[in-house]
Amino acid sequence: MVDWVRLELDVDGFDEAVFEPYLQRAQGAGIVFTTMAELGDTAEHRRALYDLNRTCSADIPERGTFYTYDEYVAQRIEVPSFEASGVMLAVHDGRWVGMSGTSLHPDKGYAFSEMTGVLAPYRGRGLSLALKLLAVRFVRAAGYRRLATFHHPLNASAIAMNRRFGFVDQPAR
Ligand SMILES: CC(C)(COP(=O)(O)OP(=O)(O)OC[C@H]1O[C@@H](n2cnc3c(N)ncnc32)[C@H](O)[C@@H]1OP(=O)(O)O)[C@@H](O)C(=O)NCCC(=O)NCCS
Repeated sequence: MVDWVRLELDVDGFDEAVFEPYLQRAQGAGIVFTTMAELGDTAEHRRALYDLNRTCSADIPERGTFYTYDEYVAQRIEVPSFEASGVMLAVHDGRWVGMSGTSLHPDKGYAFSEMTGVLAPYRGRGLSLALKLLAVRFVRAAGYRRLATFHHPLNASAIAMNRRFGFVDQPAR
């Protein structure tokens, strides 16, 4: 059985100013940040999101076979918790190079960080932190105070990224 690393961010205690430089640096380097809602939740953009998610997910340890496109749409997009305005995108020269998707769970009282991924050539430049900053703004605007996620214990880069951002181990409930 996998001992998942369950993390949570206290949104109230999060200081946006600390991570604002990552956003500005990326924008200065020609990265455009937008959302699925801004671009339009169209068939073409769903396919682009799927392609980006699938490519990045190939680097998640023990991820296994990724969804088919139809499975992805049915299980990740056409679900009540999906928010097109919660899908942050980093675009470079028209190419989608990074994403961070956040779903909302009013029944559980928290937002959930679904998938953050950056294409390999764009890693190590703070793009994930910039995307997560935008995700926190989305979570705040939606009125949530907790952002949760979990990772396979072997996914060291994702766990380090979230800890760097301020996520801590989820309190036992
Ligand atoms: C995890 C991932 C999103 C990080 O994206 P990134 O844009 O390269 O990350 P950043 O440059 O913003 O780095 C942010 C922090 O993460 C940590 N980090 C990132 N890559 C790391 C690595 N390979 N090893 C250790 N720590 C790492 C560091 O703490 C870093 O902060 P620092 O540079 O101030 O030390 C990227 O590696 C990825 O897409 N991985 C595959 C998909 C995945 O596993 N997603 C998470 C599951 S939802």
